[in-house]
Amino acid sequence: MSVAHTVLASTNTGLAHFTQAPEPKKIHWLIEKGLHFKNHPLAQSHLGQGKTLALIFFNPSLRTRLSSHKAAMHLGLTVMSLNANEGWQLEFEEEVIMNSDRAEHVKEAAQVISQYADIIGIRSFPTLTNQEKDYADQVLNKFTQYASVPIISLESAIRHPLQSLADLMTINTFKTTPNPKIVLTWAPHPKALPQAVANSFAEWVLASGAELTIANPSGYDLAPEFRQGAIQCHDQAQAFADADFVYAKNWSSFEYYGQNLPVEQDWQITPEKMAWTNDAYFMHCLPVRRNVVVADAVLDSSKSLVIEQANHRTFAMQAVLHEILQHV
Ligand code: CP
Repeated sequence: MSVAHTVLASTNTGLAHFTQAPEPKKIHWLIEKGLHFKNHPLAQSHLGQGKTLALIFFNPSLRTRLSSHKAAMHLGLTVMSLNANEGWQLEFEEEVIMNSDRAEHVKEAAQVISQYADIIGIRSFPTLTNQEKDYADQVLNKFTQYASVPIISLESAIRHPLQSLADLMTINTFKTTPNPKIVLTWAPHPKALPQAVANSFAEWVLASGAELTIANPSGYDLAPEFRQGAIQCHDQAQAFADADFVYAKNWSSFEYYGQNLPVEQDWQITPEKMAWTNDAYFMHCLPVRRNVVVADAVLDSSKSLVIEQANHRTFAMQAVLHEILQHV
């Protein structure tokens, strides 16, 4: 796998803007565009008039759903939203005898939705039981294959690119030096969670040309293609030294796929650990479990950027929608 990031997956329309590794220039241009819309949200409020965005959720969402609606409204788009798992199950395998509970093939579904919408957003989490299938990113890729309109990832099995764009907008806003020390740290969680946020954050930070330190307990290394180029460390204290940004996230094991392995030390983010840093900002994509992932005192401190990150989700989506609307 390359360092490709899928903000907008290519379709048979030939609209393939961001399917390959983003040039640092392109990432910085998207950050600038997002921050421009933050200051001027209604600057292009007629661009999407008469056009429709369909948001298809196979999994729940608070931020992605609402920020996507808001971004679309800023651009004059009409939005339709579908909780896909409340209907019948879709089939994604090819040449299958469809005698299970899966009533409709993605081949028809994607083409049908393409008639109703000019752009489609898809959220689909991994199974966390089958590494090969999850890392093939089947749901996003099958929609991309069969839709005739552009597809936006609203978080797929292995990536969450819109979150990463919002995160880079946040770092760009708050950094006080050209090359801040950015640390991605694993943190505890009672449930096994996807690796998507961590994968994308690593991918985007590194592709932007910045340095990244990843700290996680042994057994929790990210997939090689996502951690390649990062400074890797199994010692949180070492990683936090002189950090300017601490990005906390839980993820389940890639090596022992989908498992929550026992961890001896406490990896929760506390004020004591933040004191090891260069007065770092704290970041998390949300939702976050208080006093499990991070202590109240860190999350509620003036150095916490989590609400601003969520705010930037609207303008990250607006930047991407704006880019697509130039072409549909
Ligand atoms: N960070 C994020 O994607 O939040 P939601 O799952 O609520 O959309």
